[in-house]
Amino acid sequence: MTPPDLPTELKAGLDARLHGLSRSDVAGRAAIISRTYRDGGGSGAIATEADALAYALARMPATYAAVTAGLNALAEITPDFAPNSLLDVGAGPGTASWAAAEAFSSLSAFTLLDANSALRTLALALGAGSTRLRGMTYRQGEARAALASAEAADLVVASYMIGEISEGERAALAELIWAKTRDTLLVVEPGTPAGFARILAMRTQLIAAGAHVAAPCPHDDRCPLAAPDWCHFSQRLPRSQAHRQIKGAELAYEDERFAYVALTRVPAARRPARVLAQPVVSKVEVTAKLCIPDGLAITKVPRRAKADYATARRWRWGDGVWLT
Ligand SMILES: C[S@@+](CC[C@H](N)C(=O)[O-])C[C@H]1O[C@@H](n2cnc3c(N)ncnc32)[C@H](O)[C@@H]1O
Repeated sequence: MTPPDLPTELKAGLDARLHGLSRSDVAGRAAIISRTYRDGGGSGAIATEADALAYALARMPATYAAVTAGLNALAEITPDFAPNSLLDVGAGPGTASWAAAEAFSSLSAFTLLDANSALRTLALALGAGSTRLRGMTYRQGEARAALASAEAADLVVASYMIGEISEGERAALAELIWAKTRDTLLVVEPGTPAGFARILAMRTQLIAAGAHVAAPCPHDDRCPLAAPDWCHFSQRLPRSQAHRQIKGAELAYEDERFAYVALTRVPAARRPARVLAQPVVSKVEVTAKLCIPDGLAITKVPRRAKADYATARRWRWGDGVWLT
């Protein structure tokens, strides 16, 4: 599937703010922010509006694509889910809110929370250019305190934020986030072993608290993957020339690796198996690594099973597949 591009209104807002700025200054800021993230300093290098813009220009296309992939997987499994309210925890420039607004036309109330005032300012400015997000509420503050006084929402999203919380505080934050989830929670993290470990810990904790997995897993049992394997997915994004300049990158695309879990209060009626790696297609068979209700399966679909082979040829890494 083609990766989602940023909505036109969001792109226009970002382009308007970039206009007249020095690309090399923006690129320099983006590099410092990225280095600070790599060194474990989280969003500490995002202090000014120019920093916030550099972060948004560099990262929003990728985090938007990852959140959208998670929301699409969810919508496929719970097609009747029509949330009215969204709570975007660690919202930053509002990426997940934009993605949720696109995925669910039913959403009308958007509450965002984040500790970073520069990102809040940018999110509000970008949101002002959106017909859907114009009326958003953006609470600035530390997540646990801000959540304690926030209203519960039908859909809660925590996108690329759990990694910024110290290990000792994650369980308490997860409990609070779940308490504010009326129906469905989507958590997205970088698709690294560490990001996956955080997703797994949250999955285990919240299943024990009564949650059910809607995606990517087809069950609520223990994850069948054993280290060094880890569950993650990928979105390939085309890079515009401006994006390449800002990221100091040469390739015309980037691959965003992400891990996610969507948890619901009520179990989904059916859950598809999940394709865990890009299937290998040969003239003889399609070989696919699948997560199925019984665990992990390396499924081979022979060419002689014509219709099944034709279907399996179209499987892509991350797809939910309904096995008969
Ligand atoms: C990597 S950014 C992700 C932003 C956005 N969700 C996205 O996907 O593009 C992480 C965000 O979490 C916020 N954050 C980290 N720790 C926080 C905390 N304890 N309380 C509130 N916000 C926090 C940061 O300020 C930052 O905006």
